[in-house]
Amino acid sequence: MLGIIGGSGLTQLANLDVSHREVVRTPYGEPSGAITFGQVSGRPAMFLARHGYGHTIPPHEVNYRANIWALWNRGVTGIISVASVGGIRVDLRPGDIVIPHQIIDYTWGRKSTYHEGQGCTVTHVDFTEPYDKALRQAILLAASDVGIPIHTGAVYAATQGPRLETAAEINRLEREGADVVGMTGMPEAVLARELGVPYAAINVIANYAAGRGDSKEGISFEAIESVLQESMQRVRVVIERLAG
Ligand code: HPA
Repeated sequence: MLGIIGGSGLTQLANLDVSHREVVRTPYGEPSGAITFGQVSGRPAMFLARHGYGHTIPPHEVNYRANIWALWNRGVTGIISVASVGGIRVDLRPGDIVIPHQIIDYTWGRKSTYHEGQGCTVTHVDFTEPYDKALRQAILLAASDVGIPIHTGAVYAATQGPRLETAAEINRLEREGADVVGMTGMPEAVLARELGVPYAAINVIANYAAGRGDSKEGISFEAIESVLQESMQRVRVVIERLAG
């Protein structure tokens, strides 16, 4: 069963034919909200709003362990993470859709593993390729089938937030190889890996990263909102094709 984690701009999946909602208890505390179960294109799917249904949980306070555990516990066979990002690479413009292929993690202080605490054996998961190859390919194919243009790769920098970056920080991220920047990609991806759940991401460029493009004078939140609304519609179409 496909699981979709929706971020800013995707707090509901309009094409999810809802059957029920369930609040899952986990050993790691409370997930961001109830899981919504239903069907997308006739196939069973589940949806979770990363920041809560009222968008009240900031990136550094999301209980990533509880979210991923809850989906895993309810039998998810693959997770598509939808998240908005800032564009660093010059060809990435607001509204564009990107399927990242690599991650650099700049977050700190987040609970980022299941392998800790009393009685745990020391475990090091392989994370050379942070996203599931087959799931990434399935997204790329679905987008191409429905004729929605997407960028087929990007290095995702996960920053701590909740503030946006300085222009100098974005320059540094670019030097270090990052193409897009967001606040929620980690530890979500590695937690899915730890539980053996295939995980891939769909990123929507909400804005030029700080100091780039029209963000030279600062980043406007009204502009971000309107970009996201339109782009998430295209993301829904890709997911519908992927699920069907
Ligand atoms: N930086 C970090 N996270 C983001 C941004 C950004 O510019 N835009 C959307 N999420």
